[in-house]
Amino acid sequence: MTAAISAIVTTVRRGQRYTEANRALAARTAEMLGIPNVPRGNDSLEELRAAYGADAVLVARRGLLTLAAAEGELFFHPGMAHLRIKNLLRGHGDHLVSALGITAGMRILDCTLGTGADAIIESFAAGDTGSVTALESNPLIAAVIADGLAHALGDNYEMHAAMRRITVHCTDALAYLRAQDTDSYDAVYFDPMFRRPLHESAGMNALRILADMRALTDETIAEARRVARCRVVMKERRESTEFARLGFAVIAGGRYSRVAYGVMEQ
Ligand SMILES: C[S@@+](CC[C@H](N)C(=O)[O-])C[C@H]1O[C@@H](n2cnc3c(N)ncnc32)[C@H](O)[C@@H]1O
Repeated sequence: MTAAISAIVTTVRRGQRYTEANRALAARTAEMLGIPNVPRGNDSLEELRAAYGADAVLVARRGLLTLAAAEGELFFHPGMAHLRIKNLLRGHGDHLVSALGITAGMRILDCTLGTGADAIIESFAAGDTGSVTALESNPLIAAVIADGLAHALGDNYEMHAAMRRITVHCTDALAYLRAQDTDSYDAVYFDPMFRRPLHESAGMNALRILADMRALTDETIAEARRVARCRVVMKERRESTEFARLGFAVIAGGRYSRVAYGVMEQ
């Protein structure tokens, strides 16, 4: 697991019409994560962090959770998911959907939830007869993103429905895989933190503070192959040595993209 980051939860200073929702969300989050729920009063988030000796403050704002740390903020934002869904609706395809071979009705296991953007695409592609289970080992990321997927408004109906169909578990991928039956998912996906980050990904900064940075192991891939009926896929930088190290011989994705998908067919 990642180094523990201490956190507290509170609400925004003044509540407008979300006051009750914010209070309830802060209380629920405190209980779920076993962290202090502190009254906001008139303090700034920096003052609260100093007063409670916390690295991060979760804030219930407009009925949604955001996380504030000295290094940046983490909040649910589906990134490019909107555009990717539009492309899929126009029949233009999506590299992740192709790599995973997703068709309607499939059961997808996404072992690395992160911001949730890829999980939304998988969920859209698998449709309402399919399912996406997404895992995240960092409890703070899991709390913020699961809350967004469950309560934020999607940009359009398709995205909204896809978000609501995702089930999030806060757990380590290997621990979860070990507990699953053989062939219990159609495809298993990994998007671990890149061994070397792409500089353009400034939006990942807040996530990087919290994220589980461990590399995948041979055992995790072996367990994924047991659990996946059709495919195991990993995203990495196109030139990454991780593909060869972990045994991905087939590399897919956009020809000019800096990221690629390693695909193992069963
Ligand atoms: C690069 S991000 C995933 C990005 C994601 N595909 C998206 O669309 O935003 C990797 C995430 O996986 C999590 N993670 C890394 N290793 C993990 C593991 N072994 N089990 C569960 N989660 C893990 C990290 O904490 C991080 O949030």
